[in-house]
Amino acid sequence: STIDARPSSSAEPQAVLTPLTEASIFLTLVIEPGGEDGVRGVLGDVSGLRRSVGFRLPEGELTCVIGIGSAAWDRLFDGPRPRSLHPFRELHGAHHAPSTPGDLLVHLRAHRLDMCFELAHLLRNRLRPHARVVDEVHGFRFFDERDLLGFVDGTENPEGNAARTAVLIGEEDPAFAGGSYVVTQKYLHDMDGWDALSTEEQEDAIGRTKLQDIEMSDDRKPPNSHIALNVIEDENGDEKEILRFNMPFGHVGTDEFGTYFVGYTRDPAVLEQMLQNMFVGTAEGHHDRILDFSTAITGNLYFVPTADFLDDPPGA
Ligand code: HEM
Repeated sequence: STIDARPSSSAEPQAVLTPLTEASIFLTLVIEPGGEDGVRGVLGDVSGLRRSVGFRLPEGELTCVIGIGSAAWDRLFDGPRPRSLHPFRELHGAHHAPSTPGDLLVHLRAHRLDMCFELAHLLRNRLRPHARVVDEVHGFRFFDERDLLGFVDGTENPEGNAARTAVLIGEEDPAFAGGSYVVTQKYLHDMDGWDALSTEEQEDAIGRTKLQDIEMSDDRKPPNSHIALNVIEDENGDEKEILRFNMPFGHVGTDEFGTYFVGYTRDPAVLEQMLQNMFVGTAEGHHDRILDFSTAITGNLYFVPTADFLDDPPGA
């Protein structure tokens, strides 16, 4: 007999475990008063609309993930709620991580922006007048998967079984097994300040080399580097991982240089520990050097139900 490595429920996850793509659109929406029934109806149509756009260009590998915020969950659904769903927790420390409005996240990925754009347009039309878009980011691949700080971003993402274990809910919340959580933050970079650093100083901020993307040895890696603060371990010394799909975005005319941070996790506490280390600092007083050149202007936490849940939302 074969071993079933899937979560205890065989419900189909949304397309969370998609590799980084060349193009992405992120829509953050707020549900209008009284828009709940309309939104629930649209959720059931998402997979069909995704097929309508995606099937015309299979090699474009269009995917769509929908996240639902904590307050929105209670407005949309009766019955049990995901165990760890709560509003994004604002952080005040050495740096500020704001919590901003967001009832729904639409995370679109494809090899081409036109596919993301077409599906974003169709979803937006269907969601009107039930919800309004409060933030829209068009992300692009920047050379060899670099962020606008110039560093390769995404290298240490878990793969295969490790990725599934890091992001998909299992027996800890059986009613929502196969689901996930996602945190988004929109960051703007101070490129003049960053560019004034030497390459060595930039490498010290990240904890990896810039050209070849090699991790620094533990004795070389500064304790306030991004890597040092984001490698966290459980009581057995095993690394607690998340799955990131950051995308660069920007507008040259207004000097806007951004990173849209997207982190999927099975347990928001793991990601919140990373944010705590970055923004507030560790017990030793180290906080993240990249935040001296990066300002978070949004912050949201969403639950990502399974595809089966979305196709047939309770009460729809
Ligand atoms: C690693 C950039 C925000 C968690 C990295 C790396 C870069 C990077 C360049 C090294 C290569 C890699 O493994 O991907 C950025 C930028 C950010 C940002 C530009 C925003 C301005 C965050 C946030 C979190 C986070 C908010 C978590 C809350 C991680 C983790 C790693 C990582 C877990 C991998 C650590 C390892 O296993 O070596 N990031 N990051 N990052 N980042 Fe970020």
